[in-house]
Amino acid sequence: MSAKPPVHIAISGAAGQICYALLFRIACGDLLGPDQPVRLQLLDLEQALPAVWGVVMELEDCAFPLLEGVDVTADPHVAFADIDAAFLVGSRPRSKGMERRDLLAANAAIFRTQGQALDRAAKREARVLVVGNPANTNAWVLAEHAPGFARDNITSMIRLDHNRAASQLATQANVNVGEIERLAVWGNHSPTMYADWTNAVVGGEPLPRLIGDPDWCTDTLIPQVAQRGTAIIEARGASSAASAANAALDHMRDWLLGSDGRWVSMGLSSTGEYDIPEGLMCGVPAICSPGSVERVSGLRLDDFQHMMIQRSVAELVQERDAVSLLLKEQSVSSA
Ligand code: NAD
Ligand code: LMR
Repeated sequence: MSAKPPVHIAISGAAGQICYALLFRIACGDLLGPDQPVRLQLLDLEQALPAVWGVVMELEDCAFPLLEGVDVTADPHVAFADIDAAFLVGSRPRSKGMERRDLLAANAAIFRTQGQALDRAAKREARVLVVGNPANTNAWVLAEHAPGFARDNITSMIRLDHNRAASQLATQANVNVGEIERLAVWGNHSPTMYADWTNAVVGGEPLPRLIGDPDWCTDTLIPQVAQRGTAIIEARGASSAASAANAALDHMRDWLLGSDGRWVSMGLSSTGEYDIPEGLMCGVPAICSPGSVERVSGLRLDDFQHMMIQRSVAELVQERDAVSLLLKEQSVSSA
């Protein structure tokens, strides 16, 4: 057994389907490697706790040597106490008859409370990934309510779109997906995201040249990645779970351990570059070294790239503004 102290990881939405794939992979070492013990601090709604205890029984039954313990709670302050990392997966799904405004309002309230709890309970250097949709805007709300946190320690997930694009590109170019570098996914985790192959290479060879058809990205790749979540929901009757858990793991592993010089796509608080409004939580290309993120900056964007990025940015600005208003209304009505 390793002598290392455990890394404390909070995970919300623990009774849900993504966590049913995620928890076991973290506990077996897929996140931090084969000699790093972990302690899981699981959060869900009070009414979901019996189901979480069922998952805990299964975790116990796996006899994972790296799993030093599991805590279960419905209180975010308890879940976030002294954590090193958090996966915020739980959020309010859209139910029948629910308007988009109601969905934004429900999630704004959840992520405001969780931001305040993070600020009070977590270690300052904890790394936080928001997966629950609308992921970018939820992460923005979280960051706004955790002022004691460095803004770069709160991120949102666009890695699933990145992995989807990489996989489609590899098939089209007939190469191994692991060989693809310098792929970027920009914007919102929504159908407006922009899968950008402009700089992508395989073994130094530009990927657009390898694929040969200059229109393939616009005509096929972008719509396929944009519609992939919906296609999975239609086929499975439920949204992506194992691939979402895998993307969350990829995102956090690269962030904590480094991406080895490779580009990854992450929802990061904008520095204002590329005409993305400062502070907006937006998918951009980045390179990670252990524990830190460096944005890929200084790229020259052509008109098409700029237009595609701005289309998604406009949607993010709209979501952010709608949520700001809702949060103000909520605080007036609770005053
Ligand atoms: P699910 O409905 O199976 O599980 C959600 C869980 O969250 C439930 O157990 C629920 O009780 C819990 N929950 C709800 N409100 C909570 C709160 N305030 N605090 C703690 N827990 C809470 O959903 P799922 O399939 O696991 O998906 C979870 C989220 O991830 C959804 O919002 C989904 O749209 C999103 N998602 C994001 C991506 C991405 O790429 N960013 C990909 C797939 C799914
Ligand atoms: C996905 O991209 O698979 C999900 O975000 C879809 C969804 O709406 O949950």
